[in-house]
Amino acid sequence: MSIRFLKESQSFFLTAGDSSYVFKLHENNRLVSLYYGKRLPPCDLSHLFKAQPRSFSPTPADAIDPSFSPDATPQEYPFFGNGDFRLPAGKLIFENGSFISDFRYVSHTIRKGQEAIPYFPQTLGSAEDCETLILHLADETAGMELNLYYTVYENLNAIGRKAEWINRSEKAVQIDRAMSLSLDLPDDGFDFLQLYGAHCKERHLERTALHHGMQSVESRRGASGHMNHPFIALARPDTTEEKGEVYAFHLIYSGNHLCLADVDQFDTVRVQCGINPFGFGWELAPGKSFMTPECVMVYTDAGLGAMSRTLHDLYRDHLAPSAYRNASRPIVINSWEASYFDFDEEKLFQIIDSAAGLGIDTFVLDDGWFLGRNNDFTSLGDWTPDPVKLPNGLTSIIARCKQNGLQFGIWFEPEMISQKSKLFELHPDWAVSVPGRPFTESRHQLVLDLTREDVQNFIISAVSDILNQYEISYVKWDMNRHITECYSETLPPHRQQEFSHRYILGLYKILETLTNAFQDVLFEGCSGGGGRFDPAILYYMPQIWTSDDSDAVERMKIQYGTSLAYPLSAMTAHVSVAPNHQVGRVTPFTTRSDVAMSCSFGYELDPRKLSEEEREEVRKNNQYYRQIEPLVLHGDFYRLLSPFEGRTCSWMIVSKDKTKAVMWYFESLTVPAPPVKRLRLAGLDPDRTYHIAELGQSFTGAELMYAGLNLPLLFGDFKSIRYTITA
Ligand code: GLA
Repeated sequence: MSIRFLKESQSFFLTAGDSSYVFKLHENNRLVSLYYGKRLPPCDLSHLFKAQPRSFSPTPADAIDPSFSPDATPQEYPFFGNGDFRLPAGKLIFENGSFISDFRYVSHTIRKGQEAIPYFPQTLGSAEDCETLILHLADETAGMELNLYYTVYENLNAIGRKAEWINRSEKAVQIDRAMSLSLDLPDDGFDFLQLYGAHCKERHLERTALHHGMQSVESRRGASGHMNHPFIALARPDTTEEKGEVYAFHLIYSGNHLCLADVDQFDTVRVQCGINPFGFGWELAPGKSFMTPECVMVYTDAGLGAMSRTLHDLYRDHLAPSAYRNASRPIVINSWEASYFDFDEEKLFQIIDSAAGLGIDTFVLDDGWFLGRNNDFTSLGDWTPDPVKLPNGLTSIIARCKQNGLQFGIWFEPEMISQKSKLFELHPDWAVSVPGRPFTESRHQLVLDLTREDVQNFIISAVSDILNQYEISYVKWDMNRHITECYSETLPPHRQQEFSHRYILGLYKILETLTNAFQDVLFEGCSGGGGRFDPAILYYMPQIWTSDDSDAVERMKIQYGTSLAYPLSAMTAHVSVAPNHQVGRVTPFTTRSDVAMSCSFGYELDPRKLSEEEREEVRKNNQYYRQIEPLVLHGDFYRLLSPFEGRTCSWMIVSKDKTKAVMWYFESLTVPAPPVKRLRLAGLDPDRTYHIAELGQSFTGAELMYAGLNLPLLFGDFKSIRYTITA
């Protein structure tokens, strides 16, 4: 039983794996947070809250204890206007203009598992996996109901939280702020971890000391974005990969987000995550409800590695589409860096022919295959094969793939429209814009208004037509710009603030419809690389193109940072050419393969240009990948050396039963007189003996983890080492 209500202390005791989360009903049905940390046996923790008299912290009229003030009380889901001056979790605006609300506990429900809700990405679990507590709160004056959800995973240190408003009054209410989660922690002795980035530089790990006031990451781009990821963690300053306390928060949402930590006058921290209140509003008509996205929180005292492994297990088992959780992924070859827009049928035939016999499973035809698409100024929206480049449509290409034992995948950017397109001629009003204002283009393209049902239906049928017509096993779903002129002609003026969230809801409807209709197709997410790499996309698509930057050295940082929150199987990584197309760097082929191989693997190059030696390496790599793929799909990931801290990087994957492992070590620029690197491995069984194939030697797990291995000195820049470890 993960959720208990302890009658005597009137407290809720949630147990998620090795963590406990406790709050209680205080006087007049207020919810007071007591504890979030290492697992405790159910006990009365009421002693952890005692009201203190505090200047300038007001006492509500109904308080029994005259020292009580919401301003100095840790709360579950705080509001503004009756005593707490800190950031509210929710803000409602009523007909008379007032924006004060006061929600109190009414009752609660506990139910087994977490079932799917239509068009709503969230973690899912069976009755054995998790229990969900629903707290029913009400603001009686306003006639509003608020349900707070806590989905508690039995064997994982993870709790999913979301909030739902229901308008029981007879008047419309405006929701102005609707965070998924608010959490008050009793002290501020933490570092703030975030995954910041840019196009080609996604999810770089940054760690800074928490300070008074607010630290936050947010997006106003209409997408989760390359720049700020909807993930934050609070770690103790001495927390490392292997030990120490950390609290992680990850929002399952693809749109504008806000994740923050606010340190107050009493050195306590309030954490909040949810839809970004900037540019957000929602009119809640009588009888209607509104659900926030789910935010996952993880606590562990076993370091950042354990935090990540918890998220990896949670996402692999309870978020990613079930058909792919245990399924082997195709090794793909993608046409983008091989030919960009410049191809015809004959060139594709040659590429396909030369990709045959290498152990590659799928040829993915990237951008440029549809009506008149010879550059990025044109044609988005016209999803029929270009008759000039492909006189036989996709049929001949797919046939050629089949002859060569390859499956066929295709690229779409369905949410977009080019001004130069047949679709724009027909439906200029479908492009997002504000009447009377010019369009702002980005990559010469506009965004379709996904809040509209006719547009949603168009996208569903355009993609379905192609998938029904041809034998396609793989779809790369791209999104190459962010949203400006947020406005929909179909929404009345007072609902325009709903645009950005409605866009995302429209997207989820489209993705759910298509992924349900084409369950045999592997959908891969993409947005200029990793610009919409978020847990909600993972709910529909088992893997996401991690970054447009395929340079091995840059990828170390990107993949290391991304692994903080995502399983390896969620990250697509391809071997590309040298000099690299994004940064011009020359790295050894082996290093490029080694870096990509710990993820969902493939190639992004012209196979016609591979030397015989490289072709042989590709064959061997693909065989090796199949050997270690079970580790990539199901193993435990250990980060050994951070590329953010020096010129080395190392990580390893260990099978759950600790009988198999693979370790990679990478160096960037070489140095003269290099120190001998002694590397300690992790995650093994100290009492077992392990054989390292590449060394032809055996060691105990204890030796490998506590004493470590002296690595050979590497000559030259950007070299890698790979060890295959078997018990
Ligand atoms: C984006 C993707 C690339 C490629 C191009 C095609 O940038 O991230 O992988 O598909 O679009 O235009």
